[in-house]
Amino acid sequence: MPSSGRKEIPVGASAENSRAIAALNDPWRRLPQITAMLIVLVIFPRFIACSGVRLPVSRSCFDDSVHIKNIYVQLTDIVKESHRMEVRVVRLGHVGLTVRDIDRTIDFYSTYLGMRLTEKFEYPEEKIGHGVAVAAGAFLRCDVTHHEMSIFRMRRNILAADAPDAPRFGFGLHHIAFELNTPEDLKGLFTKMRDGGVEIVNSRKGGPGNQPRFYARDPDGNLLEFYWGIDKIGWEGASRAYDPIEEIDLLNFDFEAFVDRRERDAAEARKGIRSGLNT
Ligand SMILES: [Fe+2]
Repeated sequence: MPSSGRKEIPVGASAENSRAIAALNDPWRRLPQITAMLIVLVIFPRFIACSGVRLPVSRSCFDDSVHIKNIYVQLTDIVKESHRMEVRVVRLGHVGLTVRDIDRTIDFYSTYLGMRLTEKFEYPEEKIGHGVAVAAGAFLRCDVTHHEMSIFRMRRNILAADAPDAPRFGFGLHHIAFELNTPEDLKGLFTKMRDGGVEIVNSRKGGPGNQPRFYARDPDGNLLEFYWGIDKIGWEGASRAYDPIEEIDLLNFDFEAFVDRRERDAAEARKGIRSGLNT
């Protein structure tokens, strides 16, 4: 079947996110750091030695591999620290609300704001789902991002009021989610918050939207989510299947495998839409 010339949006995939993964593995990204280390470790000591200028330290110390290793470690720490300082969220991603009646809320945001229902679920009593306190949820979107609003009905009497997943109030704000630009930024923010004494709740994968993420609390205890790589919805309007929600070790999470899996899912989905195209 000839192509219509329209650019197809791959299911569950994002070229922007793939580029971010590729950038992580790009050696040229490290070029400025490597150059700075070469100057400090090799060129500068040789220049000083040739010029005859006497330094407070002897020339031999530059030949001491232990000393050079220490300089390397310090430089690496400086580079890591400077990267932490650069991390910033790129956008407000979505807001989660707890409500009394999910269908009533879906109807309200669809009717008056024109939002679309991406998916909706109910967890059986025996299952631990989207946080143990959540009994049911719905995900609404504005355009192609999986959701800009998540709506939850909470399980009653399952948790003590001070349990980590319990809503602070019966209804209202559940969490605010921010998007990061790259997996490296996500991990950088995690490390910065952890080292700064911010309360980290947990890190997760799976669930509607599939985004790897971590949760933390602001000074007043509001639940914040930080994520990268949320699913996109294609022109056919279908969301990608998702794995059960599981806790992860974010700093050691395999983001490359995550992207590979997403691309495979996208290829499979395209087979069902137009056989023989982009598989
Ligand atoms: Fe969320």
